[in-house]
Amino acid sequence: MGVIQKYTKRKDDESTISPFLLLDEAKAMEQRADDETFSCINNSSFNVFDNQIIMPKDLQTIMIKEENRMKTLVFASNNTHKLEEIRAILGETFEIKSLSDIGCYDDIPETGMTFRENALQKARYVKEHFGYDCFADDSGLEVEALNGEPGVFSARYAAKNGQAHAPADKDNANMDVLLRKLASLPAQQTADKTTDTQTKWNACFRTSVALIYAGEEHFFDGIVSGHLINEKRGTGGFGYDPIFIPEGYDKTFAELGNDVKNGISHRARAVAKLAQFLKA
Ligand code: IMP
Repeated sequence: MGVIQKYTKRKDDESTISPFLLLDEAKAMEQRADDETFSCINNSSFNVFDNQIIMPKDLQTIMIKEENRMKTLVFASNNTHKLEEIRAILGETFEIKSLSDIGCYDDIPETGMTFRENALQKARYVKEHFGYDCFADDSGLEVEALNGEPGVFSARYAAKNGQAHAPADKDNANMDVLLRKLASLPAQQTADKTTDTQTKWNACFRTSVALIYAGEEHFFDGIVSGHLINEKRGTGGFGYDPIFIPEGYDKTFAELGNDVKNGISHRARAVAKLAQFLKA
């Protein structure tokens, strides 16, 4: 609420906190206060003196509590893994609510052509329909030889290329379509580097986080670069992890496991920037 910052301690009496509030500010506060504060204002008797309000002690206590209350921030996701990760990083500073926590079961549109556009679309939807400050993310894989595909279509790449599949087999179907496309490219387009056994395709995972906070919009991007291989290796992770080897490693994300991946991933990097901003 930011209201308490406007109070000042009475210098001659440190033992009883006697904050003052200008009458106009109190009226403005009523207009933007949430229910709890609103009822405090209405139920408490004020002493109005010289256009200032001297607040009774009980209200002071409530208002101080209000100041210390954690700010709520919605993460526009219901992905339990992502929510756990975010709460571990921001949980001491913010109460992080999921979409279901705020009663949002809508199919939020994601029609952007970039990760930033999609993330912002989701964050704005929550702000506009539910009133909360909010952040949202969008991620995917970008392959250099395919001019950035699958990009924003990463989650539905097989379907977009007319490949029917069972929902449970989505990740495999997406990787198969991608590897088939890469294999069919003319050699000079894919052969930026080659090994004895296979071609390397430069690629990166990218995450964009859009934040709507205190009336402003912000973006935080995270990237992890690497290359793709033409066989699936490893059982960890999800999505395209079995075919992606991050720079500086010789194992796929699916082989490296979550501990290593979470330390260097695109998502971790974007979230670290978000956390740095919010904690500053
Ligand atoms: P989301 O925006 O985080 O839901 O990611 C969209 C899609 O991008 C996922 O369904 C995956 O196909 C792909 N993707 C995003 N992040 C990763 C990752 O860390 N590993 C593998 N695939 C990913």
